[in-house]
This record gives sequence, C-alpha cells and structure tokens, in this order.
Amino acid sequence: MSSTIATPFDTTLIPGVSDRPGDDPIFSLNAEASQRAATGESVLNATLGALMDEEGRLAVMPSVSRAIAGVPAEVAAAYAPISGPPAFLEAVTRDTFGTSPLAETCVATATAGATGGLAHAIATFLERGQALLTTDYFWSPYKIIASHAGREVEQFEMFDDAGAFHLQAFEKALVELIARQGRALILFNFPCHNPTGYSLDEAEWEGVAEIVARCGTEAPVAFLVDLAYAHFGAPGSESWVRHVERMAESAQVLVAWTASKAYAQYGSRVGALLAPNRDSDERLRIANALGYACRGTWSNCNHLGMLAMTELLVNEELRTAVEEERAQLRRLLAERVRLFNTEASRAGLHYPRYEGGFFVTVFTEASQRAAERMRESGVFVVPIRGALRVAMCSTPAAQIPRLVAALEEGVTAGARE
Ligand SMILES: Cc1ncc(COP(=O)(O)O)c(C=O)c1O
Repeated sequence: MSSTIATPFDTTLIPGVSDRPGDDPIFSLNAEASQRAATGESVLNATLGALMDEEGRLAVMPSVSRAIAGVPAEVAAAYAPISGPPAFLEAVTRDTFGTSPLAETCVATATAGATGGLAHAIATFLERGQALLTTDYFWSPYKIIASHAGREVEQFEMFDDAGAFHLQAFEKALVELIARQGRALILFNFPCHNPTGYSLDEAEWEGVAEIVARCGTEAPVAFLVDLAYAHFGAPGSESWVRHVERMAESAQVLVAWTASKAYAQYGSRVGALLAPNRDSDERLRIANALGYACRGTWSNCNHLGMLAMTELLVNEELRTAVEEERAQLRRLLAERVRLFNTEASRAGLHYPRYEGGFFVTVFTEASQRAAERMRESGVFVVPIRGALRVAMCSTPAAQIPRLVAALEEGVTAGARE
C-alpha cells in the first residue's frame, strides 16, 4: 500500500501562506559555502551572524556553559512562570538600565531571544494592517515577523549624502506615518546595526530623542531598541540609555534584550522585552498584554536558560568571569574591525562608519553581480539592495586581506558588467 497521502485539493494551506519562500537566502548561501569547503576548496564564509574564533569554530563562553550545567535538573525541568522568573526579569532590567531611573519603573517579560521581543512589540503596539518604521537597511526578518502578524514595514533613508544618519528623513517618515495611522512603533537596532555596522553618535542620538519625544506628545509612539549586538559596540556606545530617558518623557520606550550574542548563546533562546513607564496603571496594562502574548505564542520560555542567565547576572564572581570572557571576544572582533578599516579604506571601498559589531556593509549598486563574482573565487557575502553585507564576526583576521581584495574585485567587476 502506498504511504503517499493525497487530498483532492492542490493544497490545504490558506491562500495567504501557500506561496511562502522556502530557504532563507542567507542559510542557502551558507549551505553552498559549507558544501564547497567540504570538497577541499578554500572558502571564506562571511555570511553567518555568529562570532567564530580565529580557527573558524563557534566562540563560546566557558562560564556560561558552567552556569547552565550548574542549574539543578528538577528546577530546570519545571515550567517557568509565563512572563518569566521575577529574579531573571529584575536582573535583565538592571543589566540594561544600570542606575538609570528607567530601571525603577520597568515592566519586563521573558521572550524567545530578541526575536520574541520584536514579535510581541509588533503585535502589542500596532493594529493589524499598520506599519512599523525602521531604517532602509534592516535585518530582513523584521519584515517576516511583521507580515506573519499582519503588520507592515515602512522604511526611511538611513544615510544622508555625507554618510551620516539621516535625521530629517527619519522625522519626515515618522510624522507622515503618525498622520496616516495615528500611532507609531519605531525599531532601531543600535549600537552596531545589522547589516551596516553603524552606531549612532551622541549628536545623532540627541536628534533622534528630540524627534521621538516631540512626536510622543502628539500620538502614541513606541520606540524599540533592538540590543542584539550592543555589547560589541565601541566604548561610549552604551550612552543610548541616557537618550531613551529623554524619549520616555512622552513615548513608550521598549528594549529587546537577548543572550544570543552577548553570552554566545544563540540556541538558548533567552531574551526579554523591557518597557519602562512611570504610570503604574499603564505598567499593569503593559505587563498583562505582554503576559497574554506569551501565553498565546510559546506559553513560557526556556527555564534552564533563564535560570543560568540570572546566576550569570547576579553572582558577582560569575558576572566578573563573563565580563572577562566577553572582553576577550570583543578584542577578537575589534582587531578584525581595525584591520578591515585599514584594508578597506586603502582599497577605496565605500562603507559607513564602522567602529564595532558583527557586520559591515559595502555599498555597491550591482550587489548581486558583485556577490556572484566573489563566490566564483570562494568568498561568500550576502548581497542586499545597494550593498554587500559582510560578517566580520565569522571572518578570521588572517583572511581580511583576501576578503577586502575579493570585495574590491567584485565591486569593480559588478559595476562594469
Ligand atoms: C538585528 C537583529 N535583531 C534581532 C536578532 C535576533 O536575535 P535573537 O532572537 O537570537 O536574540 C538578530 C539576530 O541575528 C539581529 O541580527
């Protein structure tokens, strides 16, 4: 008897989901890079967003592994509270806001990584059919998360002609969006923006805060900081907290915290969405709405991961050990950033200010052709609209001259063809 099950219909899927794209393009590129490397070819894979050591192995933090191993099995195996263990939420809030007054009036909810926080924010602060606002270069899953929830993405031009953050474009887009839909949710992924590597400087943060605070007096505005790569920013990049304090006077500040990059725990899916608010009634409404969203999606998050992360945040000895291990990883990445800047400026590549973070983008109109050309010589980067995304996190320092030479060759050839 045949085991094939057939229905009389072409598909039982609802029309809205029946032509979803299959493989994520980045994972497809990674698969091709791995296959070619397995045949003995010398491949440089600068596509994936995980920090690799100089030997190409995933960088892990030993004290994080120790904390995970130290959680008693019967505690880890139990369900976590739906919104997350209070001690975890308190620790994450302190880790994020430090001594800022925002820490004193903050609602927090456990989420599956930053992705979970983004999904909750989109479903909770926008109506169906409404659009969030972000930069025109952005982490492409923002669109998937929004569309899966029946929301849209609107973009504004991220850079002005001088290569600085385009404050006027941001303000114009925000004002127009509010006029159209009566509310706004803004997603900003700074410091260390993916894919450009850009971090806002003080004046840019001040300008953004001013605009958000002003618009927040005219309509409900939520401003979400996606902290995915923040621990890898240049010294001083943590000053964003001071600027969101200003926004919080009239807008709802949200922060998506995650253990993925900061603790090299991509697979643990530990995260939180933070929402400081001075009004205790509003805090309760937000806590209830986010708790409901948890119940309505994943119920509760990875208990083992959250318990381990709590230990790492509150136990002084472990915290110090983690900071030292992370400082080592930061130094590893900082050296690659330094080398890239030296080589890329010598080669005359066009790319934004890059001071730290997992990625940088090299601008080129012919990005598909340039990436194809690079692939022919075994160098894999991700083509996006108007640029190539380069994962410095997975490129060993010794390979940077080869990477930059391939970028130069690809960009030049792409423009010629
Ligand atoms: C900009 C950005 N935000 C959020 C995430 C989500 O990370 P996670 O859900 O693992 O915390 C990523 C992961 O690559 C990212 O690049």
